[in-house]
Amino acid sequence: RMPLRLIAQATTQALFPGAPTTLWSYAGASAGRALFNPILHARRGDTVEVELDNRLAEATTIHWHGLAVDEANDGSGLHPVAPGARRRYRYRVDNRAGLYWYHAHPHGRTGVQLQRGLAGLMLVEDDEERALKQRLGMRWGERDLPLMIADKQVGPDNAIVYKDGADDWIGNRVLVNWTPEPYLDVIPAWYRFRLINVANARMLRPCFLHGDRVLPMQLIGTDGGLLERAWPVDDLFLAPAQRADVLVDFGALAPGERVRLRSLEYVAMENEDESGAFAPDPMGDHPGAAAMGEPLDLMELRVIECATERRPPARLPPLEAIAQLPPMPDTRDWPVRALRLRMDEEGRWFINDWNFHLSGHEPAFSVRRGSREVWEIRNSMTSMPHPMHLHGFQFRVLSRSISPPDIRGRQVAAGGLGPQDLGWNDTVVVWPGEIVRLAVDFAQNFAGTQRYMLHCHNLEHEDMGMMLSFAVT
Ligand code: C2O
Ligand code: CU
Ligand code: CU
Repeated sequence: RMPLRLIAQATTQALFPGAPTTLWSYAGASAGRALFNPILHARRGDTVEVELDNRLAEATTIHWHGLAVDEANDGSGLHPVAPGARRRYRYRVDNRAGLYWYHAHPHGRTGVQLQRGLAGLMLVEDDEERALKQRLGMRWGERDLPLMIADKQVGPDNAIVYKDGADDWIGNRVLVNWTPEPYLDVIPAWYRFRLINVANARMLRPCFLHGDRVLPMQLIGTDGGLLERAWPVDDLFLAPAQRADVLVDFGALAPGERVRLRSLEYVAMENEDESGAFAPDPMGDHPGAAAMGEPLDLMELRVIECATERRPPARLPPLEAIAQLPPMPDTRDWPVRALRLRMDEEGRWFINDWNFHLSGHEPAFSVRRGSREVWEIRNSMTSMPHPMHLHGFQFRVLSRSISPPDIRGRQVAAGGLGPQDLGWNDTVVVWPGEIVRLAVDFAQNFAGTQRYMLHCHNLEHEDMGMMLSFAVT
């Protein structure tokens, strides 16, 4: 098979009424059809081969977010692809079924490149997922749909605006699957949505609302695939890079009725101002944008008549045992690595004393391949929520402590864990004042030294250096 060729390039799209918008995207072609940030499908065990052809005027990469690949294929800023150059990524998919994604990751330019559009989805399938699909009777692309949510700051000329050196870039327009003013026609039945937040910095709190009434979701999966069982939730926090696999029932609704997918109001806890170090320009850069934590409509769902005879069943099959996860490991004998998130007097973000931008690209520490560690991430009180992302390995969340009330209120398991903490994850939000403990197993089959990243997935924080690299040896 020929590798899929993805061309990173600027394209002009009629996104909004009026002037066209320039996006940067991964363009491909398959069977004569032009692809724009295509959704890649793989089965666990498949070999993926993608050639990146960089036709931008600056370096870029493709990072395979969430996938357990070796350093050479990880596409982090350690291996930039120069303008005009090509690079082939080739790796075996070893992850569980789930929604993963790919995006640009050149150091210092990740924020602007994602804001301009360099991101796509990758759906992995395995036997467990196939079995669940059969039980649910939902087909991908019909009632099983990705909702890739982003906000963009769009100027009066319809251009995407981005300012270098900004903190927390948020936008005034919502795009779902690259579509403004998004809506979806739904039949009165169960749907499965693969929610993913691909915003630069905006944390979302998605909720399905029918008038003022919440349509609860059944959470069945997180970043690293299916949970053991479904958990009913009214809403959830979805930080940049996080995924949530949810089922929603529109079965009681009549044709003509409307549902809104809305990000509810929340306490943004942007406490970093109180450190005195940092005085953000309040909204000056983001005219028309809802502030962080303000409610935001994401999408509309319009109920229509079911046109086929083959009406989907009104009930779901039992969702108690949908996947098998190893039991939470007993970590009493595991070494603990303390990681502290903080801002310095000049308003720069650090993990312990590391700032990737300031301190160069040397690995901050090494871990032995096959070893297991507890990573204890502690966020200062004068900080903000940081979605911390680990490359190369999915982890388990062991505990949360000193959590804000809205997180404590979601606890369903010992250790302060909420439903989203109960699966495999590659990104975890650490709220101001909070301590989150992770179990990381550095088992992998690659040889030699492999370097990976740990960073905040608020892309402006990442670009400003809230990132470290570590070596697996
Ligand atoms: Cu999704 Cu290091 O990034
Ligand atoms: Cu990643
Ligand atoms: Cu951050």
